Amino acid sequence: MKLIIDDAHIEQIKELYEYYPVDGVTTNPTILAKSGRNPYEVLHEIRDFIGADAELHVQVIARTATGMIADAHRIVKELGDNTYVKIPSIQEGFKAMRILKNEGISITATAIYTPLQAFLAAKSGASYAAPYINRIDNMGYDGVEIARHIHDIFKNNNFKAEVLAASFKNSQQLLELAEYGIGASTASPDVIFALVKNEAITSAINQFISDFEGLVGNGKTMADC
Ligand code: E4P
Repeated sequence: MKLIIDDAHIEQIKELYEYYPVDGVTTNPTILAKSGRNPYEVLHEIRDFIGADAELHVQVIARTATGMIADAHRIVKELGDNTYVKIPSIQEGFKAMRILKNEGISITATAIYTPLQAFLAAKSGASYAAPYINRIDNMGYDGVEIARHIHDIFKNNNFKAEVLAASFKNSQQLLELAEYGIGASTASPDVIFALVKNEAITSAINQFISDFEGLVGNGKTMADC
């Protein structure tokens, strides 16, 4: 399962890239709006840092297929080949996906709440389908279960599309999808940092260090004892 950062703050992206095995960046209009800056300025900053080969996912804003296609062309022109254009999985979106797929543009079908949306997106040429795990949970359904259904639909139909699960609020949701072997998950920096924020881990490490310092002296490590 790829692990992608769902954020546009360059400092947080840099920190996550330094410490964690991450595979790219996803954004959405709300995330870009939080920056208060020109969206392409922010996106170019991210592209320059992650490099031309890394995945960057950017969403269209237009409501019509024609408008979505125009948005997609501009996004790819600005940000290059490994940019996945996020298209909402609605009627106009499916039309846009088929046209863009034929042009060789990579698509992430977004705003997915049901397996049938994902099925239609995959048939329309999307490379990824993004179910919103936590938002589905908040509606009283099981987001992880829906992502698993989508994964099975893709495999059973020999679609190349993969699940890119999104909208996480806790590590349990992410763990269950990693166990199932879905294609990718995208999570906010807070959720990724919290994956190893655990009292038991901290306490075990502290105990090892304190025992060792008792042997060789405070502040000394294997490099200098
Ligand atoms: C993904 O495509 C969505 O843009 C995003 O992950 C939604 O996350 P949220 O529910 O935390 O806003």
